Amino acid sequence: MSHHKPDQETEHAPGYGAPSGWSPKQARRIERTPETTAPIVYPADEDDASGLHIWDTWFLRTRDGSIATIDGWRVIFSLTAPADLLPGKRHDVATIRYFYSRDGQEWHCGGTVFEEGKAFGSRQWAGSALYDADGTVYCFYTAAGSREGPLSYHQRLAVGAGGSVETDETGLEILGPFDHQIMLEADGDRYETEAQSRGMIYTFRDPWFFEDPKTGATHLLFEANTPVPEDADCCNGDPTRQEFNGSIGLATSPTGDPTRWQFEGPLIDAVCVNQELERPHLIVRDGRYYLFISSHRHTFEPGLEGFDALYGFVGKSLRGPYRPLNDSGLVLTNPTAAPYQTYSWLAYPHREEILVSSFLNYYNLEGLGIDDVGNLPPEAQFERFGGTLAPTVRLTLDGDRTEVRGTLGHGHLPTPDEDLPPTLRERLRESDV
Ligand code: FRU
Repeated sequence: MSHHKPDQETEHAPGYGAPSGWSPKQARRIERTPETTAPIVYPADEDDASGLHIWDTWFLRTRDGSIATIDGWRVIFSLTAPADLLPGKRHDVATIRYFYSRDGQEWHCGGTVFEEGKAFGSRQWAGSALYDADGTVYCFYTAAGSREGPLSYHQRLAVGAGGSVETDETGLEILGPFDHQIMLEADGDRYETEAQSRGMIYTFRDPWFFEDPKTGATHLLFEANTPVPEDADCCNGDPTRQEFNGSIGLATSPTGDPTRWQFEGPLIDAVCVNQELERPHLIVRDGRYYLFISSHRHTFEPGLEGFDALYGFVGKSLRGPYRPLNDSGLVLTNPTAAPYQTYSWLAYPHREEILVSSFLNYYNLEGLGIDDVGNLPPEAQFERFGGTLAPTVRLTLDGDRTEVRGTLGHGHLPTPDEDLPPTLRERLRESDV
């Protein structure tokens, strides 16, 4: 007698286009738990005088993934837009700016990274940044739209190569000129093109530089979609469900040159589960590969209930196969009372812990959905949007389990030698004794 396993046979066979998938069965386990839910966030006390909204943020890192420290300074890059622009419009004008800090708490704006009009795209979306051993800076970014013509959502993976860093006692400067190149465009075979896209959102973006510590190979991760043929039998043959086809793409540089890449198949796809696996990045710990993405509630296949959250997967090698952390993939989400308070999470190791930075998104929505916000009067939209770095969240990572252990201040990204204070729970435990 054969045992019928509907989830494996007729839904998404894990690995529709990849060795690993995020199956509907796994995603159905997503639920808020104390281990995966962040506390409610309030805006920072101090007024932000920068005149900017910031959102997606990443560190300047060395080839091995460590955060670069240059004469005591560390650097973050953020997508930015003028703070007087309606928050929902910011994606159409995003500009990459850099900020530097010695103490990891006060971040000083150094200005725009690229000279006006030189980068590809009508605006630049998220990426990553490499500080190479010879001091060269490579800024990987998403070229969104094109410089000429009307606003479009075409996306290509680009790099500005050949930057450098100068420091003195008072600060740090990133200098050009950058040599801009398009590194990769969706090939329509492993990675869906805009023309092929059947879904609500097409993605080919967020290049993330990664050197594999086991093999020494040089890679690029990115957010993409898996082309699903019209007559495919996955998702029970349901074309609507097949539109949800997010993937985590992979490319390799055979020579280690950070500007030259060859496509490989995706690491994970989420066909029948989710449309957008955003800002993929990796942490390698104890020989395990932890792969993280951000995703939204509204990009889950409508039969599934997910959240705006950080999701993660673990595997024994870069190629996986990966299985979801905490059984479902959910690692860190916002509380029920403020489901959109933060987004665009970045996980990175700090000693034994994992720290997660993100930005303050929409708060005080009082039951409004994220899609309703744009219909509020402008003032009400500004009042409810952060556009600043959120409190950093501290996680414990143990095998395939994670747990929220506490938070640090807004935009507090501790220096590598910084001892973190005992968490509230640890203090309570101590006072018990
Ligand atoms: C995540 C994201 C990225 C993209 C950027 C555009 O917050 O959607 O994937 O690069 O925002 O603003």
